[in-house]
Amino acid sequence: MKNNFLLVLLLTLVMGATNAQNTKRDVFIKNLMTKMTIDEKIGQLNLLTGGEATTGTAVSTDVESKIVAGKIGGLFSISTPQKIRKVQELAMKSRLKIPVIIGMDVIHGYRTTFPIPLGISATWDMSLVEKSARIAAQEATADGICWTFSPMVDIARDPRWGRIAEGSGEDAFLGSKIAAAMVKGYQGKNLKANNTMLSCVKHFALYGAAEGGRDYNTTDMSRIRMYNEYLPPYKAALDAGAGSIMASFNEIDGIPATANKWLLTDLLRKQWGFKGFVVTDYTGNNEMIDHGLGDLQTVTYKALAAGTDMDMVGEGFLTTLKKSLAEKKVTMAEIDRACRLILEAKYDLGLFEDPFRYCDENRAKNEIFTAENRAFAREIASKSFVLLKNKNNVLPLNSPKSIALIGPLVNNKENMGGTWAVSENRGNSLTLYDGLKNALGESTQINMARGTNIYSDPVLDANASPFGKSTGRENRSDEDMLKEAVDAAKSSEVIVLALGESAEMSGESSSRSKIGLPENQQKLLAELSKLGKPLILVIFTGRPLVLETESQQADAILNVWFAGSEAGNAMTDVLLGKVNPSGKITASFPRNEGQIPVYYNHKNTGRPHSGKPGFEKFRSNYLDVPNTPLYPFGYGLSYTTFQYGDLKLDKASITENQKIKVSVDVKNTGNYDGEEVVQLYIRDLVGSVARPVKELKGFEKVLIRKGETKTVNFEIGVEDLKFYNSDLKWLAEKGDFQVMVGTNSDDVKKANFVLK
Ligand code: NOJ
Repeated sequence: MKNNFLLVLLLTLVMGATNAQNTKRDVFIKNLMTKMTIDEKIGQLNLLTGGEATTGTAVSTDVESKIVAGKIGGLFSISTPQKIRKVQELAMKSRLKIPVIIGMDVIHGYRTTFPIPLGISATWDMSLVEKSARIAAQEATADGICWTFSPMVDIARDPRWGRIAEGSGEDAFLGSKIAAAMVKGYQGKNLKANNTMLSCVKHFALYGAAEGGRDYNTTDMSRIRMYNEYLPPYKAALDAGAGSIMASFNEIDGIPATANKWLLTDLLRKQWGFKGFVVTDYTGNNEMIDHGLGDLQTVTYKALAAGTDMDMVGEGFLTTLKKSLAEKKVTMAEIDRACRLILEAKYDLGLFEDPFRYCDENRAKNEIFTAENRAFAREIASKSFVLLKNKNNVLPLNSPKSIALIGPLVNNKENMGGTWAVSENRGNSLTLYDGLKNALGESTQINMARGTNIYSDPVLDANASPFGKSTGRENRSDEDMLKEAVDAAKSSEVIVLALGESAEMSGESSSRSKIGLPENQQKLLAELSKLGKPLILVIFTGRPLVLETESQQADAILNVWFAGSEAGNAMTDVLLGKVNPSGKITASFPRNEGQIPVYYNHKNTGRPHSGKPGFEKFRSNYLDVPNTPLYPFGYGLSYTTFQYGDLKLDKASITENQKIKVSVDVKNTGNYDGEEVVQLYIRDLVGSVARPVKELKGFEKVLIRKGETKTVNFEIGVEDLKFYNSDLKWLAEKGDFQVMVGTNSDDVKKANFVLK
């Protein structure tokens, strides 16, 4: 009772303080807007690029004079306190001295680079996720930036899509937790602090469902799937306080997101209550001309009317909105809305109080790429790696006298950061060679050989190395490089073969139709596997690869994504056993491309396969490949082994107000201390609509010492059983449920309960 009273008092005080803040802000902005001309208001809606990273053909011109003329509200892809100070000085020369909001794609770290987001998601560790965003914000704000185009929360079930690298995989529950943790990391508790930044969640919405995995392609899906399986992470990011959101390039129900009123107004603002601003993606307005929605004026007034507030790079708002206003195609209220929301964000960031608050050169000198941040990069990288195979415990390596270190990227610094590492301290990342050398010194001989290029075909190789990220291609023949590699392997105790993709084979506009290793790399592996030496395959990748053959040829496979600044030390930590791998994949690895989309939370169908080996006629399956992926969602091995006991439920049924306690004993039965991600899935056995065969509803990452048993407890309440029904109502239906707990989505212990 007393506690309740205190809680109410506290809430009233907090809400009172927030309201007072908002009123102060409202008064300030209202006042400012009464002084603004229509042109100045439209100027606020214009976001231009400083050109440090470009993702399209359009570039921004006359930026400086436009700032002084009040024709720019924001600038992105520009860094350093010196340059940004200059921008704000120009803004202070504009009539109303409105500061510019400075954005950047701070995606997985800043100068200190962490693993690609798909790798970070494989840690399943929310404190690490949040800290990665916190450090990224610390470094980026020290370099003048106050707005990040992150987190990218698009659910992706098609690994052909290169941007699967930028998200958290195939699951909405895990994706939502990660989205919230990232936003908290970037924005902190106080957006006005000079080391926190505004987050922009993207790409709203469904961008990850591009047909055929081809980037920018059409998407089309039912509302019920959208609500249950794709929208939750965006909502979670907004609930965590993300102050802005980016409209996606794709269409939804035939209308591109950027001009989709249902999406940006009905859903986002009316249903979800979003109070921040909406920015287009790069030339998102202009691209609606190619979508076939009309000329520039038409598409831009449609975008504004639908709920878009800021125009990235395309300048359609700047050049056509005034005309559209005169022709009554848009209203002053719509322009005012967009202008107000952008000014509010600037206010919240403290830019009106001090436009130079992010321009502290001392911070830039002292807070970027620090030893401390790099130590964290090493930690998170080593925890993102996924051990896919470890036959006869060939890993960790046990002080070998010699290692054959083979592969095109074993000593290539440019490719360690992966995609969207635009601000990485390029050229200063540690490679696998660096890492092994640091750890082993002269005690182990390293026989290094390139083995092969990323692709034999020079055209494909060039496609795989844009932005000056050379793959180090050598113009020697495949045979020559192969022979050198075989010789290195023959004279070594063990082979560490690093194959896979280059950094830019995933990411934006990097879709692949075949997602195996390039043929020349396959050949190298096949030849080396004939030597009968222990063969450890290290896989660089931005997506789940098809590794069916490789999974038989190699003794061990360690999937290392693109791990960032400390990649080399982190890989070495795991290969040598200083760190026991604990990563689990967050997107299924298919057996072949024909299975795509293959994801764990699929429906059962009316003719499910029995699960026994082999093809079954008149059942939903393929003649030539099982339905199961090669590695399922949640899969990842450890150097130790974990044994799961049976599930214990504290009751057999619950009512709407009760919770069921599920516990499981997990024993470390191997020879190393290790971390395990214990995963809980639920199946709604009977419903008014077909429900997935399982859905992740909880997880816990626990350290279990060698020989120790830990009891892991979960609680299930009615909220965990809810879903959107065919009327898009969020509810739980009474009846039978199954709960599953295990080491991955496929290997689980089961029990049943009832919701009464
Ligand atoms: C295009 C990408 O789709 C988006 O993710 C990014 O934030 C913008 N370009 C800005 O660079």
